[in-house]
Amino acid sequence: MQARFTVIVGTCAAFLMACTSSTVETRNSVQRGQLVYAKECSQCHGPAGQGAGAAYSGTGVTPPNLTGLSQRNDGSFPKEFVRRFVMGLLEKDDPNSAMPEFAKTGLRHVYPNGGADGEVLEADFEDLLLYLESVQS
Ligand code: HEC
Repeated sequence: MQARFTVIVGTCAAFLMACTSSTVETRNSVQRGQLVYAKECSQCHGPAGQGAGAAYSGTGVTPPNLTGLSQRNDGSFPKEFVRRFVMGLLEKDDPNSAMPEFAKTGLRHVYPNGGADGEVLEADFEDLLLYLESVQS
C-alpha cells in the first residue's frame, strides 16, 4: 500500500513539474516575442499593438491595431495569416504601404550586426506570434 501510494504521488509530482516547466517556457517565449515586437513593430503598430505608432506620419495606410486580430477573425487568432503577412508572403491591401516584408529584410533592429540564421529567425517569429496571441483583446 505504501509503495503504491509513493508511485502515485511520484507520478503526480512528475506530471506537475512537466506542466510547470512548459508554462515557464511559454512565458519566456512571450517575453522574447515582446522584445522582438518592441524593436521591430512597435514604432508603427504602437507600444502595445493598438496601431498607429510613433512612426506613423498620417499618410498612407494606417498601421492596424494588432490586438484586434482575433476579434476581426471570428474570435480565433489567425496565426498562419499573421505569420505569412509578416514574412511578406501575402498581398497587402496597399502594395505601397510601409509594412516591411520581414522574410526579405530580416529582424534588423534585433540583429543590427546581422548573424541571425534561418533557425534563429524562425524561433523569433514563433515567439513573436505567441506574444501577439497573448495581447489579443
Ligand atoms: C514601417 C511601419 C511598419 C512596421 C515596422 C510594421 N508594420 Fe505591420 N503594418 C504596417 C502597415 C502600414 C500595415 C497595413 C498594410 C496593408 O494592409 O496594406 C500593416 C499591417 C500589418 C498586419 C496585417 C493586419 C491586418 O489586420 O490585416 C500585421 C499582422 C502586421 N502588420 C504585423 C506586424 C508585425 C508583427 C510587425 C513587426 C515584426 C510589423 N507589422 C511591423 C506598418 C508596419
